[in-house]
Order: sequence, then structure tokens, then C-alpha cells
Amino acid sequence: MQLTREEESILVGEQGPGRQKAMELVTALGKIYGAEGLIDITSAHLSGASYKTIGDGGLKYLEDMVAGGAKVSVPSTLNPVGMDRKRWKEMHISEHFAEKQLRIIDLYGAMGIRTTCSCTPYVGPNRPSFGDHVAWAESSALSFVNSYIGARTNREGGPGALAAAILGKTANYGLHLDVNRKATVVIDADIDGSVFSYSLLGQAVGMAIGHGIPYFKNIHPEVEEAKALAAAMAAAGSVALYHVEGVTPEASSQDLSGLETIHIGKKELEDAYAHLNRTDDVQLISIGCPHLTEKEMHQIASFLKGKEKINKDVEIWFCTSAEIRDRCPEDVREMERFGPVLADTCMVVAPIEGSFQRTGTNSAKAANYLPTLCSQKAMCRDIAALMEVVM
Ligand code: F3S
Repeated sequence: MQLTREEESILVGEQGPGRQKAMELVTALGKIYGAEGLIDITSAHLSGASYKTIGDGGLKYLEDMVAGGAKVSVPSTLNPVGMDRKRWKEMHISEHFAEKQLRIIDLYGAMGIRTTCSCTPYVGPNRPSFGDHVAWAESSALSFVNSYIGARTNREGGPGALAAAILGKTANYGLHLDVNRKATVVIDADIDGSVFSYSLLGQAVGMAIGHGIPYFKNIHPEVEEAKALAAAMAAAGSVALYHVEGVTPEASSQDLSGLETIHIGKKELEDAYAHLNRTDDVQLISIGCPHLTEKEMHQIASFLKGKEKINKDVEIWFCTSAEIRDRCPEDVREMERFGPVLADTCMVVAPIEGSFQRTGTNSAKAANYLPTLCSQKAMCRDIAALMEVVM
């Protein structure tokens, strides 16, 4: 791999151990994936922020990076952490967990990372532009910016994205290159257009193709639908980029000749639904995976208006970013008659397994991860059907 003189100097430690560690990681990834060199990035989004997922080993890694003088050199945001940093007691979080989690947030902050802790930074402080090269972790967010915006990122892991943020560079391979952004399969979709149907569509496509780059026909997603689709395909498969005819910016330049077409309609959606629903009885309902947008907050609040929560045994959490929560005080008031609107966290990265065994969600992504990462039996239904459980 070709490195500039400055990159070489970082690699031999002339700019401190923090940057050296970052360069070692980025160049190692570049060698594995056959990159010819590094490329400048305009932003980073980091995962690996919950104490539940990174543990003491990850905390020590972050402490070493900070002690080594590591600072990010591009605007960088952070994924959800294991708790709402102010309302963690409402989530049954222990003092020990809270202390470690707050330390992790402080360490990311010490490196210059904006600690807003959301998986939808693209509707907030970190929205790349078309053609930007970025280094994003968080599978749903990176797929959204690759696809809906036309920025370019690989499916980074937490340490790789942090290293790239510190350097302001990443290895130039994979989805940074035109040749790897071409559609590999056509999806002829027949869905009702609700956000939940996009989540099931993503599940069905992820199950059908695993990875690859789908080109969708007959759908018209806006931001909320596109994020549901991205999240579901990234969890049910490992899709990091998709094109939608007439919608996404790189769709018109795709050559579809010779590609297989897969039809996804009623039967495939029913199969996806059956795959995700493993219980009819829940203790927790959590909505907001990926984090709720302002529009979704308004929709949920207006749906709940005039309704009452009868079943007090089931807890309800709504998950969004602190910024969105602050922007919607009236919606928050309406929603909190049913349960807390939590910021900075979500049902998957919070240690819910200590308090619950059965959780409902309207997100295919969450329903994929709740059994594996949180030892839950999952229910996956649209918001109206979930709310029937408590009304
Ligand atoms: Fe976000 Fe948590 Fe879902 S990080 S995409 S709400 S699993």
C-alpha cells in the first residue's frame, strides 16, 4: 500500500502513540482488503459505545487511546450507549453499569467526539453530502448514508471507525470505489408502503440475498422508510448499500442487464413476519430502532392522543436522540403517559436482559438482535398492534 511521507511518519510514531495505533489499524485493514492507499474522509460515526458491548476491555482501549493523545480530526458522532445518561434508573440500570458507561462517554468526548449518542446522526448533526468519503460504523446508519445520500463508506467496525476519525483518513477499498457500488440483484417489491412494511421488506430481502447490492423497483421510501429498510437488511443480511429506482442518487446510473430479479410480496413478508415473531406476550415494548425522527415522534404522539395505557405490567420505552427529544416537548408529554422517551440509548445496547425476557418492537433489526444480544423472545408488530397489548 502506498503511503505519503506524512502517513509514514504517523506509522512510525512521530505524531504520538494514539495516532500511531490508529494508523496501524487503518493500514492493516487496507492490506487485508487490497487498498492501494488511504483516502481523506469528511466525517466518522462510531459504534462500540455501550459498556454492555465493549466491557472493561473496550474501556481500557479507550483509556489507552486518550492517554496516547488521540483526538479526532474530522467531525465525529457516537452511536447509542447502554442507558439514558440522566434517566438510567428508569431503565433498571445498576450504579456500577452507570459509572462505567459515563466514563466511556467521557473518554469519547475527550477525543473530541460529539457524544450525542444516536444511530440516526444523519437527521441531526452529522449529515454527509453526496460523494463524500466517510468512515461510519453502525450498520443501519452507514447503509442509509451510502444509499439514500450517496456518501461512501464501508461497513466499519467500532475500532476501525475510531482510527479513521483520528487520522481523518481511511483505506480506499470496497464501497469507496465506483466498481463496487453496482447493483447485483433487482428486487421487484410489492408492499403497502407503511414504515413497518419497509422493515419486513428489508428482513425478507436480507434473508433472500444475505449480502450484495439490491436495486429496488416499485417503492418510494422517504427518510423514515429508508432507515427502516436499511436497518432490516443490515441485520437480516449484511447489506450496506441499496439503490431505489427514481429515489436514490446512484440508481439512474445502474446497468441492470443480466441481473436476477427477485419478487418480494405478500408471501415473503408473511414469512419474514413469522420469522421475527416468537412470542405473543411481552414485558417491555420498545419503539425507536433506528432512533425515532421528529416526524415519527409527531405520528406516535398523535396516535396516542386520547388513548390510555390500561396494562400497567408492560413497560414502554421510546428511543430517540437527545436533540430530537428536546425539539418535541409536546409529543414527549403525550408519549410519556405511556412510557419514558429515552435519549442516547436503545433496547439492544441497554442491558435489558437483567430485567426482561420478552420484548416487543416494531423494528425487524431489533427483532433480529433481541434474541441473540439480549436473550429475549421477540415480538415484531407495527406500532398500532404493539399498543393493543397495553390498551
Ligand atoms: Fe439504533 Fe439500537 Fe437499532 S443502535 S439501529 S436503535 S439496535
